[in-house]
Amino acid sequence: MDNFTYYNPTRLIFGKGQVDQLANEVLKYGKRVLFVYGGGSIKRNGLYDQVVNLLEKNDIQLFELSGVEPNPRLSTVHRGVEICKNEKIEFLLAVGGGSVIDCTKAIAAGAKYDGDAWDIVTKKHIPTDALPFGTVLTLAATGSEMNAGSVITNWETKEKYGWGSPVTFPLFSILDPVNTFTVPKDQTVYGMVDMMSHVFEHYFHHTKNTPLQDRFCESLLKTVIETAPKLIEDLENYELRETILYSGTIALNGQLSMGYQGDWASHNIEHAVSAVYDIPHGGGLAILFPNWMKHTLNENVSRYVQLAVNVFHVDPSGKDDKTIALEGIDKLRQFWNSIGAPSRLKDYHIGEEKIDLMADKAMAFGEFGRFKVLNKEDVTSILTASL
Ligand code: NZQ
Ligand code: ZN
Repeated sequence: MDNFTYYNPTRLIFGKGQVDQLANEVLKYGKRVLFVYGGGSIKRNGLYDQVVNLLEKNDIQLFELSGVEPNPRLSTVHRGVEICKNEKIEFLLAVGGGSVIDCTKAIAAGAKYDGDAWDIVTKKHIPTDALPFGTVLTLAATGSEMNAGSVITNWETKEKYGWGSPVTFPLFSILDPVNTFTVPKDQTVYGMVDMMSHVFEHYFHHTKNTPLQDRFCESLLKTVIETAPKLIEDLENYELRETILYSGTIALNGQLSMGYQGDWASHNIEHAVSAVYDIPHGGGLAILFPNWMKHTLNENVSRYVQLAVNVFHVDPSGKDDKTIALEGIDKLRQFWNSIGAPSRLKDYHIGEEKIDLMADKAMAFGEFGRFKVLNKEDVTSILTASL
């Protein structure tokens, strides 16, 4: 293992009815609150009314920022920062999926900065302070509810980058599986692909002696693989939603990454694709990840053999390592296909026209990846294999 320091200050409040704790949590930080949400799903399923009632009953003054886009945009961050500055906002409440939470993080840091919030996303300015914020999560996917990361798109320049800071952990996150019942089948699938991808980003590393971490990763993958086919047939099943919600948080709250560093190249490439084409993050990962795997197989084939045998139950007898590894990758593809995830860029009507542009976007900060360091040629080859 590598040396490490683990720190996660987010108070995780999980389970049915836990939204009742919302007012008590918010009141710890202030009474002038910016309520941030997306395109209307919380109005349709009743959560909006529930939140407003709970907070107004406690004399909390609400200001609203609605319409946060999936793949949240810088222009929306700007709107939020302006409200915070003009209205002397004391606390931000994000109610939604990863996009709403990521946007809130950028607003929270942007509100404490005199320049453009884009400087924070592009790491020209390193934030040292942010407004406090909490979340009510409505979609199991990103782990943003319990990590400090945020991904923001500048739609004008077609750039999408991840950033994070120790000052952008949510102070609390309320996770009630019931609030995820209305997530449609396609978004449910993207979410499960995303959390599995977070595990893969961890799993492929060269650090020695990580037996417990490996088993954590493998257990999480097996749990999602076992649960996903049942959940897509029974979207309002509390226990299945509960399992997936918890899995999504654990997949990216830092718990899996103690003692080694992950790769994150597939995420970088996916962000470049969705910067140009605005596709769902999990859909992009389903297309790209197996092709990244094939591209990096020879870096350490034994990791792939371990995945194939321990997670995908590939029978290794009489086969060489590469055959076993490739069978494992094929089983992953088959599994994602079986739950309805896309498998080719053309599923989103993306052809070869902008491969070079997407590769350039992915290379914006130079070569990347740890399991295998990728250059532009590597990225082009992975994108071409994904057409
Ligand atoms: O906007 P509304 O109307 O709320 O609808 C959303 C949106 O259309 C809908 N939705 C959410 N909860 C729902 C619901 N619909 C019905 N019922 C509910 N309960 O789902 C759609 C997608 O929501 P979004 O928040 O965009 O999805 P997700 O949570 O997958 O977030 C994706 C974003 O997070 C970034 C991605 O790049 C992308 O921009 N990521 C953030 C990470 C992080 N902060 O740690 C890590 C990830 O790897 C990822 O990159
Ligand atoms: Zn992701």
